Amino acid sequence: MVGLSVHVLFDCESMAPVLLFVLTIASILLILTLISQIFKTQNSNLPPGKTGWPVLGETLAFTSSPEKFVHDRMNMHSSDIFKTCIAGERMAVLCGPSANKFIFSNETKLFNPWWPRSVSQALLFAKNAGKISSFLEEDHSFLKLDSMQNYVPIMDSMAKDHVDTKWSNFDEVKVHPLAKEFTFALACRIFINCGNPNRVRDLMVPFFAVAEGIMSAPVNFPGTPFRGAVKGGKIIKQRLLEIINERKMEIAEKGIVNLGFQDLLSMLLVSSLEDGKFFSPEEIANKIIGYLIASFYTTSTAITFVLNHLAEYPHVYDKVLEEQVEIAKSKEAGEMLKWADVQKMKYTWNAVCESMRLEPPAQGAFKEVLTDFNFAGFNIPKGWKVLWTVHSTNKNPNYFADPEKFDPSRFEGTGPRPFAFVPFGGGPRMCAGKEYARIEILVFVRNVVTRFRMKKANPNEKIMHNPEPFPTEGLRICLQSHGKC
Ligand code: HEM
Repeated sequence: MVGLSVHVLFDCESMAPVLLFVLTIASILLILTLISQIFKTQNSNLPPGKTGWPVLGETLAFTSSPEKFVHDRMNMHSSDIFKTCIAGERMAVLCGPSANKFIFSNETKLFNPWWPRSVSQALLFAKNAGKISSFLEEDHSFLKLDSMQNYVPIMDSMAKDHVDTKWSNFDEVKVHPLAKEFTFALACRIFINCGNPNRVRDLMVPFFAVAEGIMSAPVNFPGTPFRGAVKGGKIIKQRLLEIINERKMEIAEKGIVNLGFQDLLSMLLVSSLEDGKFFSPEEIANKIIGYLIASFYTTSTAITFVLNHLAEYPHVYDKVLEEQVEIAKSKEAGEMLKWADVQKMKYTWNAVCESMRLEPPAQGAFKEVLTDFNFAGFNIPKGWKVLWTVHSTNKNPNYFADPEKFDPSRFEGTGPRPFAFVPFGGGPRMCAGKEYARIEILVFVRNVVTRFRMKKANPNEKIMHNPEPFPTEGLRICLQSHGKC
């Protein structure tokens, strides 16, 4: 019907010159647009690199092998910067110590923190999902030094119990799942004062499903890891709301119970916003989830790989044990560790740092570009994402001689060159949980090393990435009790 009306309205012969004119103008405009596009691309001087497949970009190549991803592209394109597409976003990866320094010192001016949409979609309450930084706006007071000193004996006592029940009756253990279990249980205790094993398990099972799918492509179909993460996220949110409401009622009835430390949940419930309002339960849940995510993979991965390295390098293990035995000499039998004891664990921390250099628990961090800027001669437009990554420096022979060698002595004296070893980032957005992580790792390592000698059950166990490294068999370790402390 529409075609007929058009034929009746237009007389073809009289319209021919007009049509020709319109077509000519349209062709000229098209050619001009194409030329301007080409001109723009040539002059926009974007970083070299490829953006990969539509939608997926190079996400899979990055998450499955982040170190190789970065090294290959630094070799292929530029050792300073390359472009890619990860998690559906156009992205510039800035490489080397000066890139790290540039990003850390331009936070808030050029960059805002950014997480892939899959993370907020899977985990946060929709109301605040756009505000992924909600938990980052916290002043992180429960992670400050005064609070931290109170956590040391709690961490020590939980690590002791964990080793007593999950390690000491076995000849062989799988370190990675145990480190995850311990890290999650400790976070539940310190973040929400939840020590009930059934309740911890009720949160842990869906949280682990989230962990499996959180960095996957956000494809929400039955069977996809992302669907599992979304499902797990819903359960966690619901269970956290129950816990938050119970605590609210408890505080209303009895006031804040003195635990010897104030947990994150109580702090959030009693702290009011600038306008005198309190955080809503959903906002509190989002913040707790943010801390769980930030602390979980990172710390459990660090614990796993430092034990892996101690099992592989007996001479380093011996020096760690020697330091721990020395610390134990100043303590009564059964006395818990204190803050001052952790400060003495200098060699053990060097071994942890060397382990984090070789198998980094965090790959770096994404940022959102707030305004166009230039780096190493290339333009990065506003709205793009930026990634700084530990892989541009950690195994780079320019900053670490014989980079594959496990050698904790690199961290003695002044240690590595500034901005070459930044497992916790730097600048105003540096990891707020660095001290928490340091104490947890040291206390856990101490509780294992002072009880057992370790040998890898499979010396050839493979390591895969997602994108954090994980041992494919869970890191099977044979234990031999020695009871030195
Ligand atoms: C070995 C363990 C850990 C490593 C390697 C690590 C690493 C990082 C890195 C690389 C960042 C991003 C820095 C940036 O945006 O440039 C970060 C941020 C953060 N981490 Fe950690 N982290 C660890 C453990 C923890 C723990 C245990 C907690 C909490 C208890 C935590 C809480 C945070 C928070 C809140 C932020 C955001 C800070 C902000 O933007 O204000 N992290 N971490």
